[in-house]
Amino acid sequence: MGFLLPLSLLVLLAATYTEGGSARRHRAARAQRPRGGSSPAPSETTAPFWVSISPKLMTVAPGSSVWLNCSSNCPLLESSILHTGLRPGQTLRGPNWVSFQLLDVKTWSSDVHCFLTCAGVTRGAMARINAYKGPQSVILEPPILEGRQHTLRCHVTHVFPVGFLVVTLRRGGRVIYSESLERFTGLDLANVTLTYAFPARPNDLGQLVTCHAHLNLDGLVVHSSSAPMALSFFTWNTTSKALASASIAALVGILLAVGAACLRKYLLMQSRA
Ligand SMILES: *[C@@H]1O[C@H](CO)[C@@H](O)[C@H](O)[C@H]1NC(C)=O
Ligand SMILES: *[C@@H]1O[C@H](CO)[C@@H](O)[C@H](O)[C@H]1NC(C)=O
Repeated sequence: MGFLLPLSLLVLLAATYTEGGSARRHRAARAQRPRGGSSPAPSETTAPFWVSISPKLMTVAPGSSVWLNCSSNCPLLESSILHTGLRPGQTLRGPNWVSFQLLDVKTWSSDVHCFLTCAGVTRGAMARINAYKGPQSVILEPPILEGRQHTLRCHVTHVFPVGFLVVTLRRGGRVIYSESLERFTGLDLANVTLTYAFPARPNDLGQLVTCHAHLNLDGLVVHSSSAPMALSFFTWNTTSKALASASIAALVGILLAVGAACLRKYLLMQSRA
């Protein structure tokens, strides 16, 4: 199989070559010309035609509008094309540049390509626009102790993009729960509330809990934390007392059953003796 593959590839290549070889070669040559550094200059100057875009990387708040300037060394541009998934706004033009507006940037990362044509030659340049917003606030509500369970509720407000958010709860510095929200792909600022319940333990007394929000944006990490909250003391309120006596009752019930079996066995042995 290992050397059958190159052979069949060769056969395939030969077939396509004989089929429409010259047309293909023409097209390839045309496609290559705009990219080659040594292509003829469009004007009398010897400098090759170049296109550049500015700024190349922009990071904005979601919902912002931005301006990009696509410029060249061409004395007089013939045309310009913009390729973007973002909504175009106004356009301004000079003899050798095109400046364009993009409205309401609401995706985390967008690539924008501009193509300028000068004397029949087309060249392009690319810019990237990123939009994000770190949480406005990370608020951990005072923990609620109900029965033998602590409930933590953490609010992360005004964050974007929520799909890149990880919310983590820590007790005494140690992670007790972490949730990645990558399944959420909404295009708006979001508020996130995480509720987590876990069993109370006697050594929880006054331990500090915190909530952390991480936006992990392809290497750029934005981190915010809540103010610490102390876990409530294990108080014997009515609910926990009722639960505790129910479990003691259950335990006692098991002990009694075991006791009855022993007693019957004892009585049986007594009667035999
Ligand atoms: C765009 O860039 C060109 C070249 O740097 C500059 O001359 C022109 O003024 C710029 N246009 C705008 C609207 O900023
Ligand atoms: C998000 O929370 C903030 C602050 O509590 C509030 O003002 C805003 O209305 C909330 N937004 C949504 C979409 O629930």
